Amino acid sequence: MKKERTNTKTQPVSLISLVDPSSSVAEQYRTIRTNLQFASSADQQVQTLVVTSSGPREGKSLTSANLAVVFAQTGQKVLLVDADMRKPTIHKTFQLSNEAGLSTVLSTGVSLEETAQKTTIENLSILTSGPKPPNPSELLGSEKMNQIMEEARHLFDMVIFDMPPVVTVTDAQVMSSKADGTLLVARENWTRKDALSQAKESLDLVQARILGVIYNGAKQDKDKAYYYYSD
Ligand SMILES: Nc1ncnc2c1ncn2[C@@H]1O[C@H](COP(=O)(O)OP(=O)(O)OP(=O)(O)O)[C@@H](O)[C@H]1O
Ligand SMILES: [Mg+2]
Repeated sequence: MKKERTNTKTQPVSLISLVDPSSSVAEQYRTIRTNLQFASSADQQVQTLVVTSSGPREGKSLTSANLAVVFAQTGQKVLLVDADMRKPTIHKTFQLSNEAGLSTVLSTGVSLEETAQKTTIENLSILTSGPKPPNPSELLGSEKMNQIMEEARHLFDMVIFDMPPVVTVTDAQVMSSKADGTLLVARENWTRKDALSQAKESLDLVQARILGVIYNGAKQDKDKAYYYYSD
């Protein structure tokens, strides 16, 4: 891992699992982590995990970032990949450069190991999205993406992919078919039931292993912000 770039900037402040680890919301993320650990068995390992939702702005990026943090807190080596090359946000959340990232590794000879950035959070590395490519779905569906996933499996204990929504583009479907598991995020008073069913159908079509739905609750009710339903 010595080739990895190191981020020397300040630690992100907005993630609840970092700023308030004793809060009940942070506890909910740890519960999700525990459920995922139980879902992972010798013959059905969950080492690569896709986080997506039916539509926009449902909390996918927030969920994947917090999950990456709570997994890293157990001492596992974690890679968070911003695989939303259309509307990337992970670099902003973690205050990282996005000059090079997933799109760079996919379209040039540069390796994942060289491009992933270490963060100030112990055990957490991040592969930002990189510059916007014209063809994200094709890139994610490529043989090169399979190789990147293999390399990531080799270098990290847990790899989490933040994705665009399922209903609008095929990116999440493509990645769910490659990953060991998929989490669907649904947001209170926002996600439409028919859209959620449609997302599940699309994921079933590619034989994604849907591990559960994360219910992203209202801002006001801090104590009940996140629930997890396993299937
Ligand atoms: N439970 C919540 N309470 C308050 N604000 C929230 C909550 N969940 C998400 N948000 C806010 O909603 C916005 C969208 O969240 P986030 O970026 O995680 O969603 P997303 O599903 O990744 O969106 P996109 O589809 O654009 O990628 C952010 O500004 C985030 O801070
Ligand atoms: Mg997002």
